[in-house]
Amino acid sequence: MRQVRTLGLLGTGVIGGGWAARALHFGIDVVAADLKPEMEEWIRGAVANAEPALARLTVAPLPPKGKLTFTTDLNAMARQVDFIQENIPEQLELKRRVLADVSRHAAADVIIASSTSGLMPTDLQRDMQAPERLLVAHPFNPVYLLPLVELVGGRQTAAATLSAAATFFTYIGMHPLTVRREVPGHLTDRLQEAIWREILHMVNEDVATTGELDDSIVYGPGLRWAAMGTNLIYHLAGGETGMRHMLKQFGPCLKWPWTKLEAPELTEALIDKMVAGTQAQAAGRSIRELERLRDDYLVAIQQVLRQYNIGAGATLRALEERLYHSAAAGAHAALTGAAAGPCGALRLVETEVRTEWIDYNGHMTDSRYLQVFGDATDALFRHAGVDDAYRKSGRALYTVETHVTHHGQALAGERVYVTTRIKQLDDKRVRLRHELYRRSDATLLASAEQLYLHVSSVEGKAAPFGAELHERLNALQAATR
Ligand SMILES: NC(=O)c1ccc[n+]([C@@H]2O[C@H](COP(=O)([O-])OP(=O)(O)OC[C@H]3O[C@@H](n4cnc5c(N)ncnc54)[C@H](O)[C@@H]3O)[C@@H](O)[C@H]2O)c1
Repeated sequence: MRQVRTLGLLGTGVIGGGWAARALHFGIDVVAADLKPEMEEWIRGAVANAEPALARLTVAPLPPKGKLTFTTDLNAMARQVDFIQENIPEQLELKRRVLADVSRHAAADVIIASSTSGLMPTDLQRDMQAPERLLVAHPFNPVYLLPLVELVGGRQTAAATLSAAATFFTYIGMHPLTVRREVPGHLTDRLQEAIWREILHMVNEDVATTGELDDSIVYGPGLRWAAMGTNLIYHLAGGETGMRHMLKQFGPCLKWPWTKLEAPELTEALIDKMVAGTQAQAAGRSIRELERLRDDYLVAIQQVLRQYNIGAGATLRALEERLYHSAAAGAHAALTGAAAGPCGALRLVETEVRTEWIDYNGHMTDSRYLQVFGDATDALFRHAGVDDAYRKSGRALYTVETHVTHHGQALAGERVYVTTRIKQLDDKRVRLRHELYRRSDATLLASAEQLYLHVSSVEGKAAPFGAELHERLNALQAATR
């Protein structure tokens, strides 16, 4: 498969907009195509709305943002992109026709993926040219924050299509889940549908309101589900003997009327109850406000899960490893190309001053300067080769001294970046100088000098750098002096 530099979007509604925001953020250019010219303004707005939450997801060094262009000419889009993601309405005949058309204009090695929530890939690829490059890649709203993408191949899909698509989606920070066999609704929507049908029954029969049913999830199972699915949770519910005991104890319930599964009739009365219930839950908040709230907690949850290297947090960690690695490789290339002389400070951290970093004066609070400078140190050491494997070998760098000087004020929402140099280096110690700048006008906001000591964590005392690490730090010092 070709390397994906440009992603083509077919249909730029809610899901197309989400794909655009995610791809652009991770440095992929996007050509968005929709029949309606007014969707250009819409998709640009959707990308801008996603930006604040995406910007907070990680401080790992990101590549330059991708470029967004828009067209109403679907075929022209197909001719200039490396990968096409289709996001038009969920109608089999429409999707089949449009996919067949587009497949005649895209080169045969351009993968075409459908965001369909439940249609089968075999049905979608029927009339396509080179149908072996079609797969379903089903994302979740908001696509720019939720990592899951279900990959499903049809009868004619090549195995290489699935693996190449998985590589691309991983690159843009996602967790590809390959579905073994196509079934209507794939995996997640079948599970969600089961709950949804029970909700409709219970609201219909006045057993509970929409709000009470949502409470029954968010105060309990929802918290568990963020990192462990139903099966592992039930394994825990069985005590020492796990799932076997759990099935023995609760097995008989399977014969009880705890679920209906067959959906109730969607009458006007039921629709009214669902609408009134959710309006009461929204309590006057607009969809935009609720989206912002949802985005904020989705970012926060993933950052917590990252600490435990579990679920979506493990995906975020893996993405960050890749980003730090790419930045280090990029900086390495720049340094080797600059053999003739110093190339200046390294710029390995770029971030946004978050609202929760602000003190009562409206400025970034003291501890956050330490955090940002600490992230820069971390990035530099990774760049020099201090990674998980190095730490596991019983060696690490400890902070001995930190001196921060404030030159200006960092305000909420401002983009800032840190440049880093190595000022001094001996066989056990390294002194760094960081400078924090506002991106819009390159104003120096703060600087920090930090001294680090290399230690053997096994012996619990200072120890000389490993030869390889010392050599790399030496080269960095020469280049960043
Ligand atoms: N909304 C969700 O939560 C969600 C989640 C996962 C997957 N999906 C799937 O994603 C797809 C899109 O859903 P959505 O919610 O973004 O829909 P949407 O209605 O928001 O967007 C559809 C877009 O397709 C455009 N369009 C219609 N016909 C077209 C054509 N022939 N050529 C080009 N553009 C055309 C429309 O102008 C519109 O902009 C569906 O298959 C849906 O099942 C939706």
